Formats: sequence, C-alpha cells, structure tokens
Amino acid sequence: MKKIYLIGIGPGSRDYLTIQAIETLKKVDVFLLLERGERKDRDLLGLRKEILERHLKHGSYRVVTKKMPVRKRSRMAYQEEVAKWRGEVATTIEEFIENELKDDHSGGILVWGDPALYDGHLEMLRGLSKKIEFSYEVIPGISSIQVLAAKHKIPLNRISEPILITTARHLKEYNPAEIKNMIVVLDSHASFKAVDDEDIDIYWGGYLGSDDEILLSGRLKDIKEEIKKTIIEAKRRKGWIMDSYILRRASE
Ligand SMILES: C[S@@+](CC[C@H](N)C(=O)[O-])C[C@H]1O[C@@H](n2cnc3c(N)ncnc32)[C@H](O)[C@@H]1O
Repeated sequence: MKKIYLIGIGPGSRDYLTIQAIETLKKVDVFLLLERGERKDRDLLGLRKEILERHLKHGSYRVVTKKMPVRKRSRMAYQEEVAKWRGEVATTIEEFIENELKDDHSGGILVWGDPALYDGHLEMLRGLSKKIEFSYEVIPGISSIQVLAAKHKIPLNRISEPILITTARHLKEYNPAEIKNMIVVLDSHASFKAVDDEDIDIYWGGYLGSDDEILLSGRLKDIKEEIKKTIIEAKRRKGWIMDSYILRRASE
C-alpha cells in the first residue's frame, strides 16, 4: 500500500529536526513540495530543500514540486474560506498520491513546526483516506511555541496555571482580565496592541530559530509600540514575518 509520512521539521532551523524525522526522511521515495512563489514561501521552501540535501544522498529520492493553491480572500466567512482552500490543497495531495507514488512507495510531506498545531495536513489526510487507499504516519516536530518559550527561558505556565493557545483573530474575544497564559499565533499585524491591561507581560518572537530571529519581552503597555515598529520594519526588510507571543499576567 502507498504510504505518506507527515514529517514535522520544526519552525525555522534545520537543527530542530528530530532523529526520528531524519530516519523517516531516509524511508521516503518521493517528497511533495508545495510552492506559492511568494518571497515567504521561497524562504520556507528553501529550508525544506536544505534539509533534504543535508540528510539524504543525492539521487536517492525524488522531489515533486507543485503549485500551492492560492487562498482567495472573499466575502465568505473565514472558516468557510479556509475549508475551501484546504479542499484545493487536499486535491493537490490526492493527485500526488495517485499519480506520483507507485504501489508500496512512500511519499513525504515536510510540515513546518509540528503537524498538530494550526496545520491542516492531518485533517486533509484523514479526509483523503476515506476516499483513496493509502496509509499515513505522523512524525511530531518541535513547534514554534516550544521554541518561543525556550528562547525566552520561560515555562508555558506557572504552577498549575492553564495555558490558552489561540490565533490573533480570536484575541479580541477575550476580556484581558481572563488572560493568564495566552499563546497567540497567526498574527503579523500586532493584534496585541488592542490588549489594554496594565499587568500583562509579553514574550514575543519573530522568525524563531532562524538567523533573523528577534526576541522582545517586557510589560506589554511599555513595549507594544516597540514591537509594532519592529514588525513593520522586519516586514519591510524581508517582505514577510512569522511571529508568535505569550501574553502572561505578571506575578503579584
Ligand atoms: C499555520 S501556523 C503553523 C504552526 C506550526 N505548525 C508550529 O508547530 O509552529 C503558523 C504560525 O505559527 C507561528 N510560527 C511558526 N513558525 C514560527 C517562527 N519560526 N517564529 C515565530 N512564529 C512562528 C506564527 O504565529 C505563524 O503565523
């Protein structure tokens, strides 16, 4: 039977690859790389190519590069829009499995960070497995939020406190008084600016793990402007940014 390995590669450094991920790369016959052609994707695709070249012998594997379907911004509700786009990506993966893999061959998809955190591949593969015959295995990766905590040298929670992980889109739904340990991903527009609370600290990281990594932390009210300026400047310089942060109620 055909098999897909969904391999978490960590969020930005080739050194985040686990030994399990490296051993799995060696089992893959054909890798699927999706590219959009934008500067951000070129950079992220570059890391994936570097990982393959570093760990695999030239000629021992094949790479199929396909165009990543573009998510069209529309009047649709966000969830509907993402579901439609994911359907298109799933079709691309289906074509890869059907047309590029021989029976008993394996395909590899390199997933940024960990496949379980804000990533659609697992749901896409579950859907596809009801439609076509193949098996799949998930290799966990280091996630961006683990790297964020490690770089700031903080735990994700203090004794027995809860942790909430969400996206910038949902940040405004929370009353700042509810924030204990809130991890925010998928922002890049400095949504933390709107959080109005004297007693919240922020631990912010951009391009974590890469040579361009930026770390900033402090009382939110004091450094929100600095982080916002940093984001604008970084986007101007590189053309894109990937950032995440922890909002934490300061200890009494
Ligand atoms: C679609 S989610 C994918 C998360 C990924 N699966 C993971 O485990 O980190 C993308 C978001 O993760 C965060 N992220 C991923 N890589 C990052 C990095 N190197 N530095 C900072 N944030 C990152 C950002 O908030 C980004 O918008």
